[in-house]
Amino acid sequence: MEKRKIKITGTGHYVPDKILTNQDLEKMVDTSDEWIVTRTGIKERHIASAEQATSDLAAEAARQALQDAGLKAEDLDLILVATSTPDTIFPSTACRLQHHLQADHVPAFDLSAGCTGFLYGMIVAEGLIFGGTARRILLVGAELLTKITNWEDRSTCVLFGDGAGAVILEESKDDSGMLSSYWKADGSLGELLILPGGGTKIPASHDSVEKRLHFLHMKGNEVFKYAVKRMGEAAVEALKRAGLKETDVDFLIPHQANIRIIDATGQRLKLPPEKVYVNIHRYGNISVASIPVAIHELKEAGKLKKGDILVLDAFGAGFTWAAVVYRW
Ligand code: UT7
Repeated sequence: MEKRKIKITGTGHYVPDKILTNQDLEKMVDTSDEWIVTRTGIKERHIASAEQATSDLAAEAARQALQDAGLKAEDLDLILVATSTPDTIFPSTACRLQHHLQADHVPAFDLSAGCTGFLYGMIVAEGLIFGGTARRILLVGAELLTKITNWEDRSTCVLFGDGAGAVILEESKDDSGMLSSYWKADGSLGELLILPGGGTKIPASHDSVEKRLHFLHMKGNEVFKYAVKRMGEAAVEALKRAGLKETDVDFLIPHQANIRIIDATGQRLKLPPEKVYVNIHRYGNISVASIPVAIHELKEAGKLKKGDILVLDAFGAGFTWAAVVYRW
């Protein structure tokens, strides 16, 4: 008998209307379209308005996913939001989203695992569904990175964008669904990608703001090396756990942090470029939202066929890394 599986029964996505191009950035910091495109693959990114918070982005994506699944908010057993940019330290963005959706008394919490948060969320949801705790889970990856971006730091401000992707997860009744997973973390390297200020280690103060500690800090070239290594490892291990080979893969849906990391991961699996999904040129790095947005786009474009084998693969702050093998 086939293993029980959880399945995506609805998807949604949202990116803000405003677009910031590389040409716009050339006027803001000492950079060039040529550098950004060749070093990262990014051409433009979507930027939230001053009034929007992460839960607003999440709500747009969540409403679409609920509609797609034919569900009402009150049908949910859990709202799970993966984010590194919550509206507030507390209450959680998931509770704010619950209020937006008027999902009265549906339990809700946030999950913090950097850019890997959406895959961590799928693994947590699988456990809760098979443990009998929940039947229908709304999982949202939502990120509003441009409000924690130092717009004077050219090494980071060209990289990020805002967006949200949402899925409904339920137990599968056929042979489609999540086949295997692999998740890891290494807290010893956390300082390489961090928002240092505003928490309990360095509470917000005039000094912390002056030192720009309320912005994202990243040692990009260090993170790059680990991302390439760990995303390759995660994909290979998750495939092994599913009893599948690289040649079985129809789509690699990698976290979109850098086109060179994406290409290296595709090459590790020996995949031709057409099997590697790329949208980084349009969105930049939208962190935890990148994979659910990609799934939604592929589905809406009619590119996913029943039975297709997908490898979802991510690396992020923590460090955390994970991969999920999924049969569509
Ligand atoms: O989302 C989860 C985790 N995040 C990632 O996986 C991101 C991983 N890291 C990266 O994607 C890349 O490391 C970056 C895109 C951030 C940087 O690319 P890089 O090839 O690693 O560049 P670098 O940091 O080694 O810098 C190379 C040069 C430096 O100049 P010098 O010292 O060689 O003269 C930088 O100052 O590029 C310079 N530079 C820039 N030049 C023009 C850095 N940022 C810029 C810029 N425009 N925006």
